[in-house]
Amino acid sequence: EKPGKFKNEPLAEYHREFNRDAMSHALAEVAKQLDRDYVPFIGGQAVAAEKWQDATNPSQSSQKLGRWAASTPKQAEEAIASAKKNYPAWRDTPAAKRAEYLRKIADVMRKRRWELSAWAVYETAKPWREADADIAEAIDFCDYYAELFLKMVKPKRMDVPGEENSYFYEPRGVAVVIAPWNFPLAIMCGMTVAALVTGNTVIIKPAEQSTIIGAKFAEVLKEAELPPVWSFLPGIGEEIGPTLVQSPDVDLIVFTGSQQVGLWINENAAKTPPVQHHVKRVIAELGGKNAAIVDADADLDEAVKGVLDSAFGYSGQKCSACSRAIVHESIHDQFLHRLIEAAKSLTISPASDPGCSMGPVIDADAKKRILAMIAKGKSQSLLVYAADLGALADQGHYVGPHIFADVHETDVIAQEEIFGPVLAVMKAKNLDHALQIANGTRYALTGGIFSRSPSTLERVKKEFRVGNLYVNRKITGALVERQPFGGFKLSGIGSKAGGPDYLLQFVIPRVITENT
Ligand code: NAD
Ligand code: ALA
Repeated sequence: EKPGKFKNEPLAEYHREFNRDAMSHALAEVAKQLDRDYVPFIGGQAVAAEKWQDATNPSQSSQKLGRWAASTPKQAEEAIASAKKNYPAWRDTPAAKRAEYLRKIADVMRKRRWELSAWAVYETAKPWREADADIAEAIDFCDYYAELFLKMVKPKRMDVPGEENSYFYEPRGVAVVIAPWNFPLAIMCGMTVAALVTGNTVIIKPAEQSTIIGAKFAEVLKEAELPPVWSFLPGIGEEIGPTLVQSPDVDLIVFTGSQQVGLWINENAAKTPPVQHHVKRVIAELGGKNAAIVDADADLDEAVKGVLDSAFGYSGQKCSACSRAIVHESIHDQFLHRLIEAAKSLTISPASDPGCSMGPVIDADAKKRILAMIAKGKSQSLLVYAADLGALADQGHYVGPHIFADVHETDVIAQEEIFGPVLAVMKAKNLDHALQIANGTRYALTGGIFSRSPSTLERVKKEFRVGNLYVNRKITGALVERQPFGGFKLSGIGSKAGGPDYLLQFVIPRVITENT
């Protein structure tokens, strides 16, 4: 296995008829597979299941997609025991061999790309392009981390006459990967393959809402013929999470999800009973309350498009989504008017429709939570646009784009992550005021600035403190290697996914000094 030059996987070009045909065909094929059952895997082997859950289509909530088994705490313990048993052999497997497995995983996903996209459309209501981007990103994580690890793994020598010193990395041990549903393949796959390539054994816990895609990833790992170094535990977070997080045999927890669950994991993983001989490492990528600043001299075409895409792409269910537009008062009314007109042009439909620009939200709980936030928003500020959903309202978990104006920086909808298609437009007197509002939350994930002035851009680059800042473009859609992704403050602890330091979190550095 020789390091190559990483390249991002090209996205599907849906303006080409054969790609549209391929996706339509995959959707039709997957539609024939909606009666299947999905079980846990322990040490790479399928195991018996007891308690079943239905998976349903958010775009058409009466449609069942299959059944998955909720793993039990006992199965979680068995998965940990298997991971512990299989760890030494995997740790001692040559790095090049482990990197080769990642390339194989990428190849299997390439081969099954349309099918995996179709599952993302059905199970998580991603419009075609968003579904395809999720599969492409999963492939990118495999290729990128394989290459990165091969560069990183070369031992570093610091020799002097009479003494040889070598600096190298060892894996941490047993890793638990706890994934969200909103990038159902990419994030789960990225966290998993990072742990695997560095030599950790892994237990994968997918989100409840995207369990079938998780099960498809388990099929991919089987097809790539990985040794028994992985387990797949579909399940309810509150039921098996505590066993996974609190086990003294777990070394590393890699989590992406909500602030509430992430903080609980961080706190509980820190408890160190006497039988545990190590301090657990937690990587936790959490939420955001991201803002785009639109200054007086912004190109309004760019700003309207950038804010619209960032706020309503995948119905605002991205940690990177723009939920606050902070607009200079001199252009505020013009911007708002144009934004509302642009929002009217969004096609709200089932995600499987080729022309869908906005599907439903993920499930009934999410819809209820988002509607409750909208109600709070109405009590504090002005709802200036809400789409009319017509007959769709009863068909699935649709919410539609909502735009609030006159939002004050302390209002609930300006402070709390909503994780839905709700945008707060806020008026700023000047750049000082805009920056104060932009930095005035507990999060620091993504942000944006639309301006044509070099001095404004320089200042915002310095003073708008977020993990990923975008200039004159949308604030979502980070690409592996090009835009390593992740935040700080309450947006998480950990180094950026898809970036040069990410794998360092999965290893322990060691030094051997030899007197020669
Ligand atoms: P969530 O926190 O509800 O669930 C995430 C995972 O945690 C699921 O697998 C769930 O089953 C599990 N879980 C729940 N309770 C648990 C417990 N007690 N112990 C262990 N595991 C438990 O989040 P979600 O709804 O799936 O995802 C949305 C959230 O994720 C948003 O806040 C979003 O901003 C965030 N997110 C962040 C990033 C990032 O890179 N920063 C990326 C995507 C999503
Ligand atoms: N990586 C995802 C994005 O940038 C979350 O939108």
